Amino acid sequence: MEIITSVVEMQERAKETLASGKTISFVPTMGFLHQGHASLLREGRAQGDLLVLSIFVNPTQFGVGEDFASYPRDLRRDSEIAAENGVNIIFAPTAGEMYPQGYQTYVNVEAVSLPLCGAARPGHFRGVTTVVAKLFNIVKPTVAFFGEKDFQQLQVISRMVRDLNMAVRIVGMPTIREDDGLAKSSRNSYLSPEERRAALCLSRSLAAVSDLYRSGEKDVERLRAELLAILDSESLARIDYAELRDGDSLEEVRQADDRTVVALAVRIGTTRLIDNTMIGRGVTWKERC
Ligand code: PAJ
Repeated sequence: MEIITSVVEMQERAKETLASGKTISFVPTMGFLHQGHASLLREGRAQGDLLVLSIFVNPTQFGVGEDFASYPRDLRRDSEIAAENGVNIIFAPTAGEMYPQGYQTYVNVEAVSLPLCGAARPGHFRGVTTVVAKLFNIVKPTVAFFGEKDFQQLQVISRMVRDLNMAVRIVGMPTIREDDGLAKSSRNSYLSPEERRAALCLSRSLAAVSDLYRSGEKDVERLRAELLAILDSESLARIDYAELRDGDSLEEVRQADDRTVVALAVRIGTTRLIDNTMIGRGVTWKERC
């Protein structure tokens, strides 16, 4: 396994790989890897010849006052997890390598970037689409893997790829959870033991709404009331948003169907956690089965 930090060097390796008739699987991340990232790497290993993992805490997707400076970083441990999962190249550029002096170009996806995390974190998706477009131009993947955990991000990137005719296949991967239901996230490391317990209200509320839907309730207002009741009953939780939306356009809906997504962003103390589920699919985790 190699670690490449130079954009030009990464581009050369990608060109050679493609010229020799091989395919490139790509998993973009901000590092501090966990089992969610590892599941993407395993699928990437299975679907391509050269497996590239990028680790880059992207400054343009963090707002003022957000956790860019404190975002957890551990390249040594990430390298071990990468090697265990068959990664060939870690691309880990510096911020200066990605955004040199004079940088001024941004990619902006419109409607699907606006609600939910787009409204709560202005400029966030512009940073995500810009860095992912840049990474695609550098790594030149045949196929790239993204988690459904960041549901809106997956929709926004899929839209960008279609709209800009990018020659990469996007694969969405299911959310990996802890045994007690909490969606794995690099930001879970911020939680105190008490907050870690409180954070279970996210998966619990999603499961309850999904159960209610599957028992016949289709009215979005009533489903949302159930969601809010569970989240409100957790004293450490502050709701950023808790909504039911169309799973493709992310537009508001009045009646739920199997394509409806339930999407949450909740602050537990100062830590902002997101989670979601397709309402018809439900949420399962080890201790719930
Ligand atoms: P990061 O939060 O590191 O996530 C990298 C990828 O791992 C994303 O596609 C995310 O959806 C996926 N992922 C995270 N937690 C997961 C879980 N519990 N189960 C399954 N997949 C999970 O998302 C980003 O980085 C950045 O925005 C990035 C796309 C790299 C652009 O900077």
